[in-house]
Amino acid sequence: MSADTGVDEARPQVGPEVPELRVESVSVRFGGIRALDDVSFAVQPGSVHALIGPNGAGKSSCFNVICGVYKPTSGGVQLGDTALTGLPPHRLAGLGIGRSFQNIALSQHSTVLDNVMLGRHVLTRGGFLAGGLRVPWVVREQRVHARRAAAICEFLGIADRLHSRVDALPYGVAKLVDMARALAVEPRVLLLDEPAAGLNAAETAQMASTIRDLRDELGISVLLVEHDMGLVMGIADRVSVLDFGRLIADGPPEDVQNDPEVIKAYLGTGDDEES
Ligand SMILES: Nc1ncnc2c1ncn2[C@@H]1O[C@H](COP(=O)(O)OP(=O)(O)O)[C@@H](O)[C@H]1O
Ligand SMILES: [Mg+2]
Repeated sequence: MSADTGVDEARPQVGPEVPELRVESVSVRFGGIRALDDVSFAVQPGSVHALIGPNGAGKSSCFNVICGVYKPTSGGVQLGDTALTGLPPHRLAGLGIGRSFQNIALSQHSTVLDNVMLGRHVLTRGGFLAGGLRVPWVVREQRVHARRAAAICEFLGIADRLHSRVDALPYGVAKLVDMARALAVEPRVLLLDEPAAGLNAAETAQMASTIRDLRDELGISVLLVEHDMGLVMGIADRVSVLDFGRLIADGPPEDVQNDPEVIKAYLGTGDDEES
């Protein structure tokens, strides 16, 4: 533990307790469209919870409500005893909500390390301008954060890419950099929107094993928004299924997989062959 920053460099910065994340009776309307209709589910601490459903089911809308991008028409989101609804995204990061982006939102011309360091700005006292002034304690703080950023990249198996520019990386590696940036805020709950979209079979298998490691080694909760039911069945502890904005199933993967309404929802769209 560094006396300067309170940052433990070697260990993941997971608090003693990871709170339950609860989506409570959330509805979202866009004009006449009901993107979400009275949806409730809970993400248990330290679990992988998948939110799946055919295209247009409301998965991204739900993700955007949880991370503060959309305001629900009614209902709300709780992290333990804290109401998240209405808080701006940077406050959510401070409370331990990390997120990835469906279309990678990295600075393409910067290095992997610089991108992950940007993710840490919510945890830095000095900020990057002060870092440029080379005030000694700020320089020390930056060094601690750089080591932690490197440790996160090592955890994800991309330590050899620390000094590569993002635009020089294969897509699958860039996805892991986006995840490293999300982990840089030391989240207690990590929201991943379609992390396997656009990945080939080998990259998808690696992503699945990385998500398992997040749960098993960091102890954080992962809410995995995925289009592909097949992918999540192997790694999720619990699965919630949306169809036309409604929650049609919520339970362990083996139950959900055999649920007639879920099978009907997927067969009805022809989506089951994708990704
Ligand atoms: N910003 C928006 N404005 C208008 N309609 C939207 C918006 N976001 C989503 N929708 C609509 O809400 C429904 C659910 O979309 P979405 O949440 O993106 O589903 P999914 O991620 O499951 O494919 C769709 O009918 C979509 O067209
Ligand atoms: Mg979506």
